[in-house]
Amino acid sequence: MIVLFGHQKGGVGKSTVAINFAYQIQKKYKDLVLLDLDSQNSAILFNQLRSSQNLEIIKCVREEDIEFDTFINKYSKNDKNLLIIDSGGYDSNINRAALVKADIIITPVGISQIEIFGLQKFRKILKEASKALGVTIKTNVLLNNVDSRSKNKLKDLKEYIKDKNAHFNLLESVIHTRADFKNSYGDGLTVKEYNKKGIAQEEIKELTKEIYKLINN
Ligand SMILES: Nc1ncnc2c1ncn2[C@@H]1O[C@H](COP(=O)(O)OP(=O)(O)O)[C@@H](O)[C@H]1O
Ligand SMILES: [Mg+2]
Repeated sequence: MIVLFGHQKGGVGKSTVAINFAYQIQKKYKDLVLLDLDSQNSAILFNQLRSSQNLEIIKCVREEDIEFDTFINKYSKNDKNLLIIDSGGYDSNINRAALVKADIIITPVGISQIEIFGLQKFRKILKEASKALGVTIKTNVLLNNVDSRSKNKLKDLKEYIKDKNAHFNLLESVIHTRADFKNSYGDGLTVKEYNKKGIAQEEIKELTKEIYKLINN
């Protein structure tokens, strides 16, 4: 099974959510790997922070560590194992190759006009990739880094997503702006380890349940 966190826009929370999701769901799979396709290497660096504190790492590989096709084929449409892909925040051949191979795509977006413009660009990529593949690639939009003050903009964004529903499905789970996400990463911790009873870990738990349901559908 391949769950890809993808958006050609950077800074939307792909790595943050991918890492926390991986930690939350890891007990369910014997074979779980995170593929870090981002030149920022957020997931690899996160593991380095963990290693330096003798914390167990989340198994993680980079593109140069694997033979892409063989590796992807091992996980594709196989519900016994889980490959989580953290995509780069840019358009590239490898990001597109991963996009078309993913069983489930999650696209985090924030709430602002810039984010709507970002989604419009991503939609174009999805459209082109779908055409090349002869199928309609859908992504699950995850509202992330949501500030409870941005209610009006939230309405606009939801309308946009629904309107363009050929490529977008809006997830029910919402992740708000929480300091735990920023603070935990620097300590090499997931939000669950950082603040066991925090709302951030609660939101990740809900999201994980929702994605797990998609996996098993
Ligand atoms: N829900 C959130 N609340 C607070 N900060 C967040 C949240 N999601 C992401 N961030 C912060 O936003 C920045 C970009 O996140 P990142 O995961 O690196 O995005 P991407 O991988 O899409 O480039 C990071 O500093 C991260 O801590
Ligand atoms: Mg990233």
